[in-house]
Amino acid sequence: MVKTTQTSKVHVTELVLRDGHQCHIATRMRTEDMLPICSKLDAIGFWSLEAWGGATFDACVRYLKEDPWERLKSLRKALPNSRIQMLLRGQNLLGYRHYSDDVVQAFVKKSADNGVDVFRIFDAMNDTRNLRVSIDAVKKAGKHAEGTISYTTSPVHDVAHFVGIAKELEAMGSNTIAIKDMAGLLTPQATVDLVKAMRSAVSLPIHIHSHATSGLASMNLLRALENGAVMIDTCSAAFSEGASHPTTESMIAALQGTEFDTGLNIAAVQEVSAYFREVRKKYWQFESEFSGVDTRVLINQVPGGMISNLSNQLKEQGALDRMDEVLAEIPLVRKDLGYIPLVTPTSQIVGTQAVLNVMTGKRYKSITNEVKNYFLGQYGKAPSPVNEAVKKLAIGDGVAITCRPADLLSPEMPKLSSEAERFAQSEEDVLTYAMFPDIGKTYLQERNADSLTPEVLLDKAAVNASASRFAPSEFKVTLHGETFHINLTGSGHAGQEKRPFYVSIDGIAEEVVVETLSEIEVSSGSSNGKKKAVTSKGASGRPRPSHAGHVTTSMPGTIVAVKIKVGDKVSAGDGVLVIEAMKMENEIQAASSGIVVAVHVVKGDAVTPDESLLEIQPE
Ligand code: CO
Repeated sequence: MVKTTQTSKVHVTELVLRDGHQCHIATRMRTEDMLPICSKLDAIGFWSLEAWGGATFDACVRYLKEDPWERLKSLRKALPNSRIQMLLRGQNLLGYRHYSDDVVQAFVKKSADNGVDVFRIFDAMNDTRNLRVSIDAVKKAGKHAEGTISYTTSPVHDVAHFVGIAKELEAMGSNTIAIKDMAGLLTPQATVDLVKAMRSAVSLPIHIHSHATSGLASMNLLRALENGAVMIDTCSAAFSEGASHPTTESMIAALQGTEFDTGLNIAAVQEVSAYFREVRKKYWQFESEFSGVDTRVLINQVPGGMISNLSNQLKEQGALDRMDEVLAEIPLVRKDLGYIPLVTPTSQIVGTQAVLNVMTGKRYKSITNEVKNYFLGQYGKAPSPVNEAVKKLAIGDGVAITCRPADLLSPEMPKLSSEAERFAQSEEDVLTYAMFPDIGKTYLQERNADSLTPEVLLDKAAVNASASRFAPSEFKVTLHGETFHINLTGSGHAGQEKRPFYVSIDGIAEEVVVETLSEIEVSSGSSNGKKKAVTSKGASGRPRPSHAGHVTTSMPGTIVAVKIKVGDKVSAGDGVLVIEAMKMENEIQAASSGIVVAVHVVKGDAVTPDESLLEIQPE
């Protein structure tokens, strides 16, 4: 099937179909915008085209309302001469938890069947035990397994540490080894040291993936090639640089006429870039504000993608001004957790805990379930010893496992298949449900009911033309003689039927849900706006906290478990509720001891700080 006939010894992986738009427009590019250019992309002679991964799968199901498997099949058909590459999180696959081995095997097989040729497999902890089953499954499917090192810097992450991992990846049967510099932390000299040492320790081709965030990546790629790496990742100019990757056209030019000549045609790539430049305009509303060089990562080590997630999360809580505190907290949390690399899902685990530490005003006053599970060994082995005092706070006398986490999981496919029986029509559907139990199920049900509605793409010209009709974001309102100072700090996605707006009223964070009954026509560009009516349903009906027995949340989220009922006796510190905020689960604890006299929430409720979720009366 794949007939790539490249003769150069330097191989290029083009990232525009995955990492490029993930970095610049929050992974929103739709399949319909990829297919028209595929024949040109296919003819260029790239070693592989990266096109699939966790974020693309997530965005397809969550926002675009596309079947990610259908995307893969269409790309396969449209790219008959190219290797399609995907990014796989080892035992986490594309989700956020560890799956049993039979799910990993089924997922890899279906991905291979539907068109993936190259699997780049990494583990956020660099615990190679978490890669073994997926590497085996890829080999069994007759495909290319690229064992991957998640690059980071810390007192324990020296060259010898990474070389040790590379040797393990070779012994496990990898076909190539990737150095994944997801945060853009590599420097040219660190690249030389690492590539040289790996070249002498392993015999596999070395592939380098370095984000351009800090402005160093193209130098890193060049130095890597000069010191024995043979594969590089680049992105067409339309989606390159900034938080993304070095530019394909520029790298081809830099290497032309040298012993590392890629043999690729710059003009052909330029045609692709010209096409995607136009496509990119359509997605202007998702443009990241971090599109240029950002050298802060060299000091705080926080990847660009993580900074934009954090800024969205803080915005939703009306606390964007606390970003610097959170950025300062992240290295401390990371150290307490044994210097884990920051990449999905560990970036969310560390980021959310850092936000909690800052927002609650006390380090580890509240600890997420993910951090507890982390200390219980359920993500694998930490790179270096963890902070025992914090571990004790998190899990008390709980005993951490030392085996591979998935060793404790029984086969899950039969259970998942029966759970998904009513809405899944194929094994691919079952796997979609397995990756994303909530949004995956909703997607499949809506698909079956023919009621899928992709998120709305705003027309920039029309929005600009109607800007004068937009409400101010900060204003004062006087109601019945009382004046409130209101600051709009964030909102849900436009196009949602019930859209939450996050406002600060006299400095107190509130959530206001606006149900749109009719709205201004923004796509026409016409200036006679239609009438607009909104219904404010701000008050959830829950009382404001007024005494120590009121239990509150420190961040907006959704209640996923209510662990007590009226009449129960609790002690201060007991977990009483579980809330999901920022993709993480967090236990809410009783602030005081006594009897539960009122519970104001049920599973599924959206809650915000400044509401009483339940009440405890001292005995
Ligand atoms: Co990347």
